[in-house]
Amino acid sequence: MADFQHILATFLSFFTNLFHRRANSAPAAKDIEANPKDGAATPDTAEVPAPVNAESQSKPEVPAKTLTAAEVFDSVGPAYEDAFTGLPTQAAAIDWLVQQLKTNPATAQGGAKIVDVGCGTGRPACSVLADAGHDVLGIDISEAMLAAARTRVPNAKFELIDVRAFIERESARPESLDAVTIFFSLIAGVTQDDIRAVLSGLAGLLKPGGFLVFSTVPIPVNNESIKWMGRPVVVSSLSPEEGVAAVKAAGLEVKFDAVTKFKPRGAEVGICQPDEVWEESHLFVYAQKPAMAAVTASS
Ligand SMILES: C[S@@+](CC[C@H](N)C(=O)[O-])C[C@H]1O[C@@H](n2cnc3c(N)ncnc32)[C@H](O)[C@@H]1O
Repeated sequence: MADFQHILATFLSFFTNLFHRRANSAPAAKDIEANPKDGAATPDTAEVPAPVNAESQSKPEVPAKTLTAAEVFDSVGPAYEDAFTGLPTQAAAIDWLVQQLKTNPATAQGGAKIVDVGCGTGRPACSVLADAGHDVLGIDISEAMLAAARTRVPNAKFELIDVRAFIERESARPESLDAVTIFFSLIAGVTQDDIRAVLSGLAGLLKPGGFLVFSTVPIPVNNESIKWMGRPVVVSSLSPEEGVAAVKAAGLEVKFDAVTKFKPRGAEVGICQPDEVWEESHLFVYAQKPAMAAVTASS
């Protein structure tokens, strides 16, 4: 399995390198600001693709039994938060959203209707947004995560529901949300088509002028069995370019995108063994729904 993880890590380096070669100027991860820019990439570590073992490449080890996404996150539980605490790029993304909501008179004093998809323990996203006075609903498929969220963030609401079912239900109330956040929750148990459909469905729930913040681990895989934090699970994701394109295809204007790297402290906090965790690439996309549908000139 370590060999397969090694291949995955090499994939990450390879695709991140491609993305970084596309970008010219790259601020440090901790320096990400809410300045509108297109195509900015943000490396914070040196990137030399690791050599791939030819034998392991031809015989990737696939886990015999995979867990559902809910089983994975129920078993990881609230310790997930400890492994990712202080992720500067996530803090910057949440801060960008808080600042954007202040520019709209309707939400400047709080009261924005926000949904955090795959809220986990509710921290940091639900916590920061609710503390800023907004009306926050965190949705998740993991009972264990939601139990922690309800205790840790009493000023937000939480619901056990899959984002796909949530979109189906809420499609009766289009253009009702001021903002949506998706931090690393469209990976396990979804297909690439699901990811695109969810982005599109969530965009439909945004009011004109509403905001979407999307982050993921940008590897172009569809329904791959991997081990994440030592747990066998089927994952899908998009490359950085595909992720940005999917947000645009959902009808949103991309204000900022960046790829950064982070090594979760999964082993240190007891979620997994040291050889079951590796440095991840992270894609962050900040976007806004156009305030008005484009008006076609007529004679
Ligand atoms: C990697 S964790 C991220 C948690 C939190 N967003 C954060 O950044 O700390 C992903 C979370 O998304 C939830 N999740 C995964 N698939 C989901 C789905 N289809 N619908 C709703 N939540 C989902 C998981 O249960 C988990 O709590």
